[in-house]
Amino acid sequence: MDTRTRGPSDDGGIEGEELRSFLERVRAALSLEDLESVRVALLGRRGLLSEKLRALGALPPSERAARGERLNGFRREFESALADRRRALEESASEGRLRAAAVDVTLPGRGRRPGSVHPLSRAIDDILRIFQARGFVPVDGPEIEDEEHNFTALNIPPEHPARALHDTFYVPGGRLLRTHTSPVQIRSLEDEGPPLRVLAVGRVYRRDADVTHMPMFHQVEGLWVDEGVSFAVLKGLLTDALQEFFARELPVRFRPSYFPFTEPSAEVDVGCVFCDGKGCRVCKGSGWLEVLGSGLVHPALYRRLGIDPARWSGLAFGLGVERLTMLRDRVSDIRYFYDNDLRFLRSPRGESYVCD
Ligand code: PHE
Repeated sequence: MDTRTRGPSDDGGIEGEELRSFLERVRAALSLEDLESVRVALLGRRGLLSEKLRALGALPPSERAARGERLNGFRREFESALADRRRALEESASEGRLRAAAVDVTLPGRGRRPGSVHPLSRAIDDILRIFQARGFVPVDGPEIEDEEHNFTALNIPPEHPARALHDTFYVPGGRLLRTHTSPVQIRSLEDEGPPLRVLAVGRVYRRDADVTHMPMFHQVEGLWVDEGVSFAVLKGLLTDALQEFFARELPVRFRPSYFPFTEPSAEVDVGCVFCDGKGCRVCKGSGWLEVLGSGLVHPALYRRLGIDPARWSGLAFGLGVERLTMLRDRVSDIRYFYDNDLRFLRSPRGESYVCD
């Protein structure tokens, strides 16, 4: 049946043309909203077709049946065109969404950078390498210590003023956060006994915080006990190790000092790396920077552990990793190590944070 020439009414096809224009509008609709407004214009409560269907009731029965059939026939045609268009629009909408969300897995990644080793880890690796090459074996000890290992066995009795100097964090149960790595000396002597050559790297804790102090920092402890370990051995070992760490022939000096667990004791200085010994703000005009504590193991430590001090002698040293790294890599504030600022972490030696 050619509906363009035979419309749903008897008015010579004009009504048919008008209704058919709705089919065109359906096919031309560009969105679901467009489509809905075409539907409402035809089939809504006041829609053109709805009104025509309502008007059927007023017709004489003889005309009503034929006209009703034509109008309903058109209505079915319209509804099926509507459904087709809706499906097509929905499909392309979801395709558009999928296209927008698509990931092109063939594109190169953006801003990929290799990670880098933390400046402190780099320094610890260097220190371990330097001392392992000289026969030291890495060992560990607990960060939560007892007073016995942190103080008493190190010849620091309860009333000793050095205890107060350590600004200790105490934890419940009479224990404490170790204030230095020296308790590992005791644990190694207890566990292995001489001869031994051990190196302990780890966290230590003191109540302290400013540009050069953190309540937690890292120390390296070295202990070498054997027959005939002398002060000359200590001097040679530490001089070489420091020059290797700083990668320079720095002057190194041993200055008499006091630690309860070593006798004799020495603090070790290197020529100031900032002014080459001429005197500056960092070395407070002295030309020297203190970098570690050391000495020969005090006989009182051996006696307590039943080790014969006439046969065995040893050297011990302790150094602060943050301090040593700040001096070598010219880091002006200890807190940079813990801020996780990528500008600092990415600079190979903290250059962007150079202090002068
Ligand atoms: N434990 C000492 C400190 O924390 C350093 C030290 C270690 C000194 C070993 C002598 C021997 O300051």
